[in-house]
Amino acid sequence: MDTITVKEIITKKGNQKITMLTCYDFSFAQLLDEAGVDMLLVGDSLANVLLGLTETRKVSFAQMLTHTAAVARAVKHSLVVADMPYVSYQKNPGKSLIYARKFMEAGARAVKIEWFDGAKRTSQGPKDCPAIIGNLIKNNIPVMGHIGLTPQTAHLLGGYKVQGKDKESAMRLVKQAKYLEELGVFSIVLECIPYQLAHYITANVNIPTIGIGAGAYCDGQVLVLYDMLGLYKKIKPKFVRVYKDLSLHVKEGVAAFIADVQGVAFPHPEESFSMKEEEWNALLTLLHSK
Ligand code: KIV
Repeated sequence: MDTITVKEIITKKGNQKITMLTCYDFSFAQLLDEAGVDMLLVGDSLANVLLGLTETRKVSFAQMLTHTAAVARAVKHSLVVADMPYVSYQKNPGKSLIYARKFMEAGARAVKIEWFDGAKRTSQGPKDCPAIIGNLIKNNIPVMGHIGLTPQTAHLLGGYKVQGKDKESAMRLVKQAKYLEELGVFSIVLECIPYQLAHYITANVNIPTIGIGAGAYCDGQVLVLYDMLGLYKKIKPKFVRVYKDLSLHVKEGVAAFIADVQGVAFPHPEESFSMKEEEWNALLTLLHSK
């Protein structure tokens, strides 16, 4: 199977639903790639599910880069999308191109940028998102947009809440989606918005929409891997479906390991290394001669 291209993702719109899962490491990346997921997002949600941080804003660029490289090393088919962390563009708008290029050098084939367009803005930051996106695209870096609930700036949106529930904020999101399309993004994540609004946006842009908590009418769906495999239990958003609860398997496996070690049932001789008998005897002679 050849590597899926950005162009192929776009042409799936209206033809085949698109799948995306977050992924943060080599071993899972191999599995998801072999399973045929279209896109692997090295999401900054790793701040929560891998690092135990309370906010995605706190993850560093170096951490994101390490995980992006690990995922990219494993992949043969899926399109790897690196999530630009807060520090790489909202905090340092002037350095966003440098950071995005580093992700591409590490093996990402696109980057994702969250667009926050709320009322409260600092002197630099969220207001720069469209300019930053335009600059990356001008420099041949494919960009995936992200609107609705944007976790990096959730504190400015009144918390982790469904967005676009009233006509004014819904209209803002429609405008953002259209503007992102004009800027040239190749797809847009719609996070936590009413399904009717996601349906409208999907029908009125020519690029794929990828929903998370945005209903069934999006062109594709994304979930956080650790949520859909039951590995992250701290919160369980309404839109998460746990496809396999691996936490039970992990706990069972670990309990069996503890019991085996304590009962001297692990390791077996065939799980151990041995020396030839004459080498061992020669060593004993040597040890006893000292
Ligand atoms: O970081 C992430 O996991 C994301 C998804 C929620 C789309 O941005």
